[in-house]
Amino acid sequence: MSEGAAKKEEKPRKFQAIRGTRDLLPPETALWNRVEQTAHEVFATFGFGEIRLPIFEEQELFRRSVGADTDVVLKEMYSFIDPFEGFDFLQRALSSRDPVFQKQLLDQLLASEPGMPVSLRPEATASVCRAYIEHGMQQLPQPVKLYCMGPMFRRERPQKGRYRQFYQIDAEVLGGTDAPAIDAEVIEMVMAFFDRLELQGVQLDINSIGDKDCRPKYVELLRAALLEVKDKLGPDSQRRIETNPLRVLDSKVKEEQSIIEKLPRIADHLCEECAAHYAAVKHQLEMRGVIYRENWRLVRGLDYYMRTTFEITAQGLGSQNAVCGGGRYDGLVELLGGPPTKGIGFAIGEDRLILSLQESGKAPAQQGRDVYIAWMGERAHATAIRAAKDLRKAGFSVELPPVEQKFGKALGQADKLGAKYALILGDNEVSEGLWTLKTLADGSQAKYTEPDLLEHLRKSL
Ligand code: HAM
Repeated sequence: MSEGAAKKEEKPRKFQAIRGTRDLLPPETALWNRVEQTAHEVFATFGFGEIRLPIFEEQELFRRSVGADTDVVLKEMYSFIDPFEGFDFLQRALSSRDPVFQKQLLDQLLASEPGMPVSLRPEATASVCRAYIEHGMQQLPQPVKLYCMGPMFRRERPQKGRYRQFYQIDAEVLGGTDAPAIDAEVIEMVMAFFDRLELQGVQLDINSIGDKDCRPKYVELLRAALLEVKDKLGPDSQRRIETNPLRVLDSKVKEEQSIIEKLPRIADHLCEECAAHYAAVKHQLEMRGVIYRENWRLVRGLDYYMRTTFEITAQGLGSQNAVCGGGRYDGLVELLGGPPTKGIGFAIGEDRLILSLQESGKAPAQQGRDVYIAWMGERAHATAIRAAKDLRKAGFSVELPPVEQKFGKALGQADKLGAKYALILGDNEVSEGLWTLKTLADGSQAKYTEPDLLEHLRKSL
């Protein structure tokens, strides 16, 4: 067999979505749209405006804000070199005094393919802060309240509720004061959103992780306490004693739980200002009727947090049950080269939110058509096209078969598509100017003039 013939017989390989990514299909996408629409509506009532951000940014933005030693930055970012941005990058690196930037410059000069290191965004807070600075939003009336939604990317081990491309609905309040009422109102907003969606089993956990004055002292205390019980801890926690002792509190390892319960708690080591802020946040939540649980072990996996942190879980999600995480991050804007700025926000994991709604039966059923137009004959086809146009203009969902079908087959098709009505148009209907409308649920039918038909449908659908 010649090489050409062998090639011809080879079946082209089929493609699959990459592990950890997925297609969202109808009817499920109707639920996604409903969730997003509800977010637009609820967030607008709290004075938030939508911001749309790029999907990729300079890698350094995430390194500096999320934290160079976090799992997200160390292991999970999708990064690549963008050669088109090479010149701009080298110029900026040259004029920068940041040693990390300088090292990247060196790496780039030595690399055979110089360019700008960029990353697919693993989260949105860093980008919102970058945009706040870039567009001089500190000149606007403060605080600036922004929200956004869209895909994020983290190279995590995929499982139920954990994807490599996942979706977040993110809200941020930047500038103005750090009044505890702001923390409470942000939490009140996300709870109101979940309430509107009738999300089941919602549980809000809150904590305060102090600030740059009191947290380092607590972390040292915690490290010392952990070193005393080091032998009883697993390898992950042992490693974290050095890298990030707070993360030990996050451990789900069964044998470690009784040890962790005896460790010093941050609430007992907050400075006066942080303790007062935390007490006021709790009071503000109570004034708003928001039910919370204090969880001293709630530390978040990103570096920019200080004081208030919170997480919300919901039912039906297994081990990945956090549907929302957030907290205060005063100082992050400054860290990114902006003016000193207060900040607080949260991100909802939309995939998990949808999963939980589906598990509790809140998903809408397949959306059927309102009207299926069963037509036969050339004249009827022209009338059917006009009828479809008018019905769609009036807002009905209409299926107009592209080729003629026997009425029996057409009605079967209408049934399969879940249509409520079949509009039957044959020669008789066209010449009489009386159209037959069949109600598919009970098989009854009646004749209508064109305007009466529209009126009838308007009343009954
Ligand atoms: P985060 O806790 O990393 O916070 O993510 C927020 C939420 O995103 C999680 O609670 C979870 O529902 C969802 N999520 C995270 N990773 C995945 C994944 N691999 N698959 C599915 N869902 C996931 C942040 O991202 C912060 N930027 C939140 C924030 C905004 N803090 C202040 N402002």
